[in-house]
Parts: sequence; structure tokens; C-alpha cells
Amino acid sequence: MGVPKEPDDTLSIGDVVRRTGVAASALHYYEQMGLIAAHRTSGNQRRYQRHMLRRISLILVAKRLGIGLADVREVFATLPMETVPTARDWQRVSRHWHSQLEARKREIEQLERELTGCIGCGCLSLTVCRLLNPDDELGAQGPGPRRLGPSADHLIRQRRELDVLQ
Ligand code: FES
Repeated sequence: MGVPKEPDDTLSIGDVVRRTGVAASALHYYEQMGLIAAHRTSGNQRRYQRHMLRRISLILVAKRLGIGLADVREVFATLPMETVPTARDWQRVSRHWHSQLEARKREIEQLERELTGCIGCGCLSLTVCRLLNPDDELGAQGPGPRRLGPSADHLIRQRRELDVLQ
């Protein structure tokens, strides 16, 4: 057994890449955006405080849930960068994202309701298609399911992610 790891250990970029699975180039980008921070050694090597692992992991979760990096930056700006955030700090982040996720969940539920009706795909297979897409008139607007928003696939994927997390 080695020396126990401490929360105030610092990590090299290789350690962070290994532990998070995030490429070094993405870490540099997150740093440029102010989402994470690193100190430099006298040899100009980056050193990350261990609590950056949690920030990076939450960036990944937010990404999977369709929360943009700009939103992540906004909420991370309320967290201390130099010291380990407390449970209360993280609670604030959680509350902020909770309301965003609830709004997204409502959008997804709306989409699910739409999926049981005519989606305007040209199949004309439901009785209601004759009313909502007579003679496939919607086909003139372009390819695909015309009665679903362009983000439908994205929303369905997010629903799966939300189900996994709940
Ligand atoms: S479900 Fe395909 S056109 Fe209505």
C-alpha cells in the first residue's frame, strides 16, 4: 500500500487525464474557459489541485445532460477555485441545475406525447395523419419528421441520461 491520498494533493496533467479520461487538449480548453485552474511548477508543468477532478467530472455530466459549457462556467463562477468547495457550495450548483433539468424534462415529456401521434414523416399510417399531414403535404417542407423539432434525437438521448441519473 502506498501513501494515502489527501484532498490537497496536487496532480500532474497525466494524472488528471488518467483519472478523468479527458484529453489534455480538453483540459487546456477548460482552463482557458476558467472552468478549472492549474498552478505551474518552476519547470512550467501544470499541477492541479485534487478537487479539480470533481469539477471536471461535473463538466462531463453536464455535457451528457446537454448543459452547455457557458452555463457550467456561470455556475462554477460561484464556487471557490483555490480552496476545496464545501457541500453547501455544491448544493448551490445542484439547485441551479435541478431547475434547468426540470425544464428539460418537461420538454422531453412533451416530445414523448408528440411521438404517440403523427410526427409528419410521410408514412400516413395513423388515422390522425390524414388530418395533420394530408397527402404528406409536410413533405414539401423538407425531409424527416416535420412535426418534431430538430432537437428531437437530442432530447430523447437526454431522457435516457436523466432516467439513469434519477
Ligand atoms: S406518423 Fe408518419 S405521417 Fe403521420
